[in-house]
Amino acid sequence: MDTYLLAHMHLRLLLLSLTLFCGVLSSGHLIDDAYAKEILSAAERDKDWLISVRRLIHEYPELAFHEHNTSALIRGELDKFGIPYTYPLAKTGIIAEIGSGSRPIVALRADMDALPLQELVEWNHKSKIEGRMHACGHDAHATMLLGAAKLLNQRKHRLQGTVRLLFQPAEEGAAGAAQMIEDGALEDAEAIFGVHVDYRTPTGAISSISGPFSAAGCIFAAKMIGQGGHAAQPHKNVDPVLATSFAILALQQLVSRESDPLHSQVVSITYVKTNVALNVIPSYVEFGGTLRSQTTEGMYHFRQRIKEVIEVQAAVHRCRAHIDMKEETFTPYPAVVNDNKLHLHIKRVGQLLLGPENVRKAKRVMAGEDFAFYQQVIPGAMFGIGIRNEEAGSVRPPHSPFFFLDEEVLPIGAALHTAIAELYLEDHQHSTVQ
Ligand code: NI
Repeated sequence: MDTYLLAHMHLRLLLLSLTLFCGVLSSGHLIDDAYAKEILSAAERDKDWLISVRRLIHEYPELAFHEHNTSALIRGELDKFGIPYTYPLAKTGIIAEIGSGSRPIVALRADMDALPLQELVEWNHKSKIEGRMHACGHDAHATMLLGAAKLLNQRKHRLQGTVRLLFQPAEEGAAGAAQMIEDGALEDAEAIFGVHVDYRTPTGAISSISGPFSAAGCIFAAKMIGQGGHAAQPHKNVDPVLATSFAILALQQLVSRESDPLHSQVVSITYVKTNVALNVIPSYVEFGGTLRSQTTEGMYHFRQRIKEVIEVQAAVHRCRAHIDMKEETFTPYPAVVNDNKLHLHIKRVGQLLLGPENVRKAKRVMAGEDFAFYQQVIPGAMFGIGIRNEEAGSVRPPHSPFFFLDEEVLPIGAALHTAIAELYLEDHQHSTVQ
């Protein structure tokens, strides 16, 4: 064979394999496009129902471990669809299961509680309960998961394993997640996904990140005890005001002098109080605040140091200090640290459903989130779902009395939950081997 012919044949072979390769690629895209369209349009058909559910939850907000009506509403809808569930877990929590009933089991979580906050947005579905508001979007979280329950139930013949839906109480400071785990919510589950509305990301987009996502946090309260007396005779008293001032300044140096500058930590003193008489040195001063750390270990380390610093500053100034870590009312939250593989899964599903341009890198936050408790047991990942929409007025951060949510997010969230679970099960068939 001459060289010309040989080269020509090679070229034809190359072209043929290229054509075949492109064929596979494009048919793959077609399948992907059809899949995304199918889920998104099914979710879109449920939009009116989703909005009505969310508005009902929004109008009657309930606080940590008292989500009785919210829980009853969700159970009522699950009953309508014939989806089996277990109730109660953690007082008002529900777990519903859809699929084969066998492994792999993938969990999806939504929180249901509201905040002790007066809603200041004037609209038709404003909170009807004085001093309570869904200002963190948990009404939307519960609704989106309920939307996914409906979709997954319609598609249950496709599920190659089981999807477990966790409707969880008391995310806001009361560690409902820890209680759900204690009551068996994660049993046999191998991965968990969670979502939080994100006012910085536009509606139609999501944000995800591998590794640290939100901070570990705890609170503390201290009492600096001295000896009160006339302010004109400081030498006859023991001044707790000066001791408190030194302690507060010394606490600020913990972050600046003892922590890695590349590792985020925050110590904030949020109150100082005592009896007020301008010519009297008080007998004690109370103060306290919060501590945040990018890692759970960092939080526990600084918790110990906070105690030491306050006690030593008290001793230096001839005072005594009592420090209360308030664990009975506020369980320290670990940090949310996303599993890399699960983050990549979220990214892949997000790109498939919303397009690559709509999957952003999430910004870390120093706020706390009790999803972290689940991640201490099994791998988990949490992502942000965009609700920013200037036209709809959805621009305020959570925990603001003016927080307002773009309801267009509801079908998007339901569709994402559905695809995340369905494709996870498809990819993890190995887990069925015991
Ligand atoms: Ni929240």
